[in-house]
Amino acid sequence: MSKKILSLPGDGIGPEIVGEAVKVLTCLQDDFGLDIEMTEGLVGGAAYDAAGHPLPEATLDLAHDADAVLLGAVGGPKWESLDISVRPEKGLLGLRAELGLFANLRPAILYPQLAAASTLRADVVSGLDILIVRELTGGIYFGKPRGVETLPSGERRGVNTLVYTESEIDRICRVAFDIAMKRDKRVCSVDKANVLECTELWREVAIKAAADYPEIELSHMYVDNAAMQLVRAPKQFDVMVTTNMFGDILSDCAAMLTGSIGMLPSASLDADGKGMYEPIHGSAPDIAGKGVANPLATILSVAMMLRYSLDAPAHAERIEAAVSAVLDTGLRTPDIFSEGAERAGTRQMGDAVVSALRAV
Ligand code: IPM
Ligand code: MG
Repeated sequence: MSKKILSLPGDGIGPEIVGEAVKVLTCLQDDFGLDIEMTEGLVGGAAYDAAGHPLPEATLDLAHDADAVLLGAVGGPKWESLDISVRPEKGLLGLRAELGLFANLRPAILYPQLAAASTLRADVVSGLDILIVRELTGGIYFGKPRGVETLPSGERRGVNTLVYTESEIDRICRVAFDIAMKRDKRVCSVDKANVLECTELWREVAIKAAADYPEIELSHMYVDNAAMQLVRAPKQFDVMVTTNMFGDILSDCAAMLTGSIGMLPSASLDADGKGMYEPIHGSAPDIAGKGVANPLATILSVAMMLRYSLDAPAHAERIEAAVSAVLDTGLRTPDIFSEGAERAGTRQMGDAVVSALRAV
């Protein structure tokens, strides 16, 4: 039976980059026998403009019905003054929560062809291969109480709550351990157990879960130190597992080690392997509509989708090989450009990946 893929281009550069990723999927469908059905929906600011809500019921129904979701990006200055409950970001957070996508996998891999694009010295980053496993449906992003209240004195007070249950911590740690078993078997759990009781519990539960994985070498690091170590000596890490907010911050940092945030895909998975796939960069309103955004992170997100949700690892490998072949040719969007390379726009990059696919 064919698998259903829902694409949600969203805002900013979203439609441009998702367009290129859809081209890649269509090529796999037409030339390589990938059995899929694709539909498209609205999310984020685009959905707010068309339907008055960043996550319309119709989109949620399509998402529930799909085997996998491909998302571009949400948000932009146009919607920043809206009430927080209907801002584009709520569309994304709502999808994560409603679909139970608690496990966010964010690989940071340095393509050898791009070593010169990193702001760090090549010897510090060459060979980098880190996977950040970020908890995605709990923590301070969703904890209650939350909001801004006015005190009797008239002064306002803002509140957000960091909260994790043992089972939420246990299941994300196990995702990290399972994946690490297929890698270097090292997991660093990142917390702030010296200050926050909630993450003291995190550390305790991580240690308990690790007892079922005798081959895993589990270490612990405070988040401030982890941020420093990521830029000091990033190759010390294999898999990192952490809370929603720490993972948000550390994954941007890790992404930049690889030269461009425009290269990195992500997967957000539920307990049964259903997932939403998106580049880790945002909607980049400053370059939206200019045809210069790098589509490779979205195309590589399709590869993750094929591997984790569609059980089609051979197609995933095809895409990854095609991306690497395109980088070998020296074609570069502005974000990964370095001296001597050939400049390309969004469409040219997508077309090059499709040609490389056909040539593999
Ligand atoms: C991310 C983004 C989102 C997050 C925003 C857009 C809500 O920064 O996916 O990392 O904070 O999770
Ligand atoms: Mg982020």
